[in-house]
Amino acid sequence: MTTPFITIENLCIDFPADADNPAGEQVRILNDINLEIAEGEIVGVIGRSGCGKTVLIHLLRGIEQPPTAGRIIYHISRCPACGRIEFRSSAGRKCSTCGAVLEAQDVDFWASENTALKTKIMARTSLMFQRTFALYGDDRVIENVLRALDDIDYPAEKAINRAADLIDEVRLTHRMMHVARDLSGGEKQRVVLARQLAREPLFLCADEPTGTLDPKTATIVHDLLKQAAKSTNMGMVITSHFSQVLEDVCDRAVLLDDGKIVKIGEPVEIVAEFMKDCADDLEYTDQEIGNPIVRADKLSKKFIAVDRGVIKAVDTITFEINEREIFGVIGVSGGGKTTLSKMIAGLYEPTAGGGTGGADW
Ligand SMILES: Nc1ncnc2c1ncn2[C@@H]1O[C@H](COP(=O)(O)OP(=O)(O)OP(=O)(O)O)[C@@H](O)[C@H]1O
Ligand SMILES: [Mg+2]
Repeated sequence: MTTPFITIENLCIDFPADADNPAGEQVRILNDINLEIAEGEIVGVIGRSGCGKTVLIHLLRGIEQPPTAGRIIYHISRCPACGRIEFRSSAGRKCSTCGAVLEAQDVDFWASENTALKTKIMARTSLMFQRTFALYGDDRVIENVLRALDDIDYPAEKAINRAADLIDEVRLTHRMMHVARDLSGGEKQRVVLARQLAREPLFLCADEPTGTLDPKTATIVHDLLKQAAKSTNMGMVITSHFSQVLEDVCDRAVLLDDGKIVKIGEPVEIVAEFMKDCADDLEYTDQEIGNPIVRADKLSKKFIAVDRGVIKAVDTITFEINEREIFGVIGVSGGGKTTLSKMIAGLYEPTAGGGTGGADW
């Protein structure tokens, strides 16, 4: 039998139509959302850009603005002595911190009288952001995870072992001593996950956690998320406009359109419904391509890092880009796309090779 963890009731949020006039006309961004999420359940939210996925995640996580109407109820248990928050299904058991008996409680998350409880619940939930990596760029991977443990006052003498276990859990042991800034996007997102798991969350809100990753790297991160959730009974809500995420990771999915829930069901069913509206019926007309404007000749860029030695980020590549041409660069995470773009834009000097056009090589 499943135990409910979160109940969303008639949730609505309005935002000003014009950000410069907060008191003016309001637009309903989420409209009468009703959903129940069970302990340990992974729910996917899919929908077009702007349909309200991020706004919903923020409300669930408790950041930014309160809802305009409706409620979010967290069904938890709480230690009457030390205030520790646990799953509802742990009610009646002993608190792992102080030994008192945990009591069942339903918390109206955004109610003003529950501000202190909300903060306590937020300490047991985690967030993975859309597109940004919340990391200390200059610090090593292990230091990043140690800082997360320090934030929750994890006992210092056990922290190193715990950090190493977490890094192993996200399959990054080989990168433990590397500086976070130099990692690829997929690796960075795995460090973010290790930092979030350090908090032993009951619930994780993941907003497009793999939105900037290539499909192969994204699948690795999805598998890790799923494993982490299943091994700790952590529930999760994960948003995406990539349908594969839902099929890979979720127990159940929700299709959101223009702030309303259109359908809730099995991930395959919801993806099929979502894809119905995505038929590629645009007509493309060929552009006449002009003369070359950018030429790269055996272009290379090497980086030297104390911990990784020589990194050949871009290795002797040659290409031409013509006027009015849309030139695509595709490759796995860490494949050199950003480095190449920065050379074309003149932000990086090539180590070898050269060219004409683009930046002045
Ligand atoms: N603080 C805000 N003030 C005003 N409007 C906002 C605010 N936050 C979001 N919106 C609007 O709410 C709508 C939903 O935005 P949201 O970011 O939730 O979309 P999304 O589904 O996450 O899109 P994407 O797939 O692009 O991430 C958009 O029209 C957005 O412009
Ligand atoms: Mg979003």
